[in-house]
Amino acid sequence: MTQRIIIDTDPGIDDAMAILFAFRSPELEVMGLTSIFGNVSAELGARNALTLCQLAGTQVTVAQGATAPLGMPPRPHSDYVHGTDGFGNIDWPQAEGVIDPRSAAEYIVESVNAYPGEVTLIPLGPLTNLALALDLDPSIASKVKEVVLMGGAVHETGNVSPVAEANIINDPHAADRVFGADWPVTMIGLDVTHQVLLKTAVMERIEAANPVQGGFLNQAAQHYFDFYRGALGVDGCYFHDAATIAYVLDPSLFGCRHGRIRVATEGLALGQTMMAPEGREFPTDGWADRPLIKVAFEVDDVRVLRLFEQRLSEAL
Ligand code: RIB
Ligand code: CA
Repeated sequence: MTQRIIIDTDPGIDDAMAILFAFRSPELEVMGLTSIFGNVSAELGARNALTLCQLAGTQVTVAQGATAPLGMPPRPHSDYVHGTDGFGNIDWPQAEGVIDPRSAAEYIVESVNAYPGEVTLIPLGPLTNLALALDLDPSIASKVKEVVLMGGAVHETGNVSPVAEANIINDPHAADRVFGADWPVTMIGLDVTHQVLLKTAVMERIEAANPVQGGFLNQAAQHYFDFYRGALGVDGCYFHDAATIAYVLDPSLFGCRHGRIRVATEGLALGQTMMAPEGREFPTDGWADRPLIKVAFEVDDVRVLRLFEQRLSEAL
């Protein structure tokens, strides 16, 4: 049986990699894409989601989400990483298509209620839409199959501040709400995504094997590669959003530990994901009443990259 998924996304170059990876995986039924501000605005994110559907040769529900975080002014979009178009400034023609009249949160709530126990939510941007969905209908917490999110950093250095990862710092209040809800969350954060380097040569091979989708991704990725080359001196990019899809396809690629997460919502540590490991007690308030979630710390980078390359390259 295929797994139903909804991808909540701020596309975004690595979001595009994740979405095409999912569309090309027969084990997954992508029910819909919901947009969120982050790499781009939520409006542009929804249009980019339509473009990705067109590239995948399919049409699923695309709903637009929140345009700003819950408890603070929005931070600037990260166009220095993803380009002003979210796709590396490649001037790709925008697809025609209809954006669903429901908000992302409404769409998530309706979909989870329609298929209780079956829907996995995969947020690849700030967690605002998920927090709003919980506000709209708290009962969805007991009805989702799983929430597999890209975000956060427990032991690894952050990528926006020394302690904060981009998706979490862009809406720390929403993230604290999502980590505090009683639903099965798996956090795929920088602790693992910084262990997986997608090299430029792999994207070239994918383009050669799959000129349309691979060509789009490789063109878009050039801006992303330039950013990583300049910022961190690596030949490629870290494998952030697409790691969630690898996890959903094959959790054995990752090693997880349980813990309770709080998110710093103010001060110098804004956006830090702070974990109390399972079994440890602290004479400090704040964590004890939080649910245990799964946090990925180990990853088989070779197998993850092989799976991604296979799925993006094979003839369908
Ligand atoms: O920190 C990496 C995350 O921030 C990814 O989701 C990327 O797309 C950006 O949103
Ligand atoms: Ca993203």
